[in-house]
Amino acid sequence: MNRSEQLIMKALDQPDFIRLDLREEADSTNRIAKQMGQEGASEGYLVIADRQTAGRGRLGRSFSSPKGTGLYMSLLLRPDMPASEAVRITAAAAVATAEAVNALSGAAAGIKWVNDLYLNGRKICGILTESVLGNNGDRPDYAVLGIGVNVAEPDGGFDASIADKAGAVFKRGQMPEGFRERLAAEIVNRFLPYYRNLFGEELLKRYREWSILSGREVYVYRTFAEKEEGKLAEVLGIEADFGLRVRFTDGTEEVLSTGEVSIRQKQ
Ligand code: BTN
Repeated sequence: MNRSEQLIMKALDQPDFIRLDLREEADSTNRIAKQMGQEGASEGYLVIADRQTAGRGRLGRSFSSPKGTGLYMSLLLRPDMPASEAVRITAAAAVATAEAVNALSGAAAGIKWVNDLYLNGRKICGILTESVLGNNGDRPDYAVLGIGVNVAEPDGGFDASIADKAGAVFKRGQMPEGFRERLAAEIVNRFLPYYRNLFGEELLKRYREWSILSGREVYVYRTFAEKEEGKLAEVLGIEADFGLRVRFTDGTEEVLSTGEVSIRQKQ
């Protein structure tokens, strides 16, 4: 076991549940965890890479994953629930990651519905949950929870394509030694209790508390096409199924569900 593995394993509340696979490089930790799921690995396989060459984001986007400054991790899960409820895994991860980042760094990051964390108006974390259906009807055979955190600003700055909206927990060169290892363990420690009670009140309550969008004006996009003009709406809150209730300027209300729309905060 190398030093990083020791740090992570020591900091885990339930080390017996986790099988850690630490890599210097991966194309995508989500891809690797999915392959493990396909090959029958059990829940708790956790792969973490120091950099990704083909990090995946939502909606077919890529996730910039430079070396040494980010936490890129994927956890294999075998949830016993309908695939349509997978948003709860994302929500649990968002709450766990916000709480872990803030507890360890003193920052005040919040959740931008449904799967991003923002700090000082900039995105510091993205979450991608991928569920794969097997022969269990609408129950996933397995799911992969992927979390990418920009822990420090990369030396050369963020990629030009994301420089205007990406942020990090720490400024360039200010990341404390061993922080990413502690953060990885803290995220898992905080995630597992929510994961084991995905339909409980506590997760919804915490998600609402950490949500930065309530009361804010947003643009709602339905097609994900760059040129689409978003429709202005006010966010009224988070529903019990983690849908986002909004009111458009003509007074009509709608509950948006993940996958159907994207939203952008009004500046
Ligand atoms: C998004 O912002 O759209 C989601 C980004 C998710 C990125 C993480 S990094 C670890 C894991 N492996 C991937 O390829 N993607 C996720």
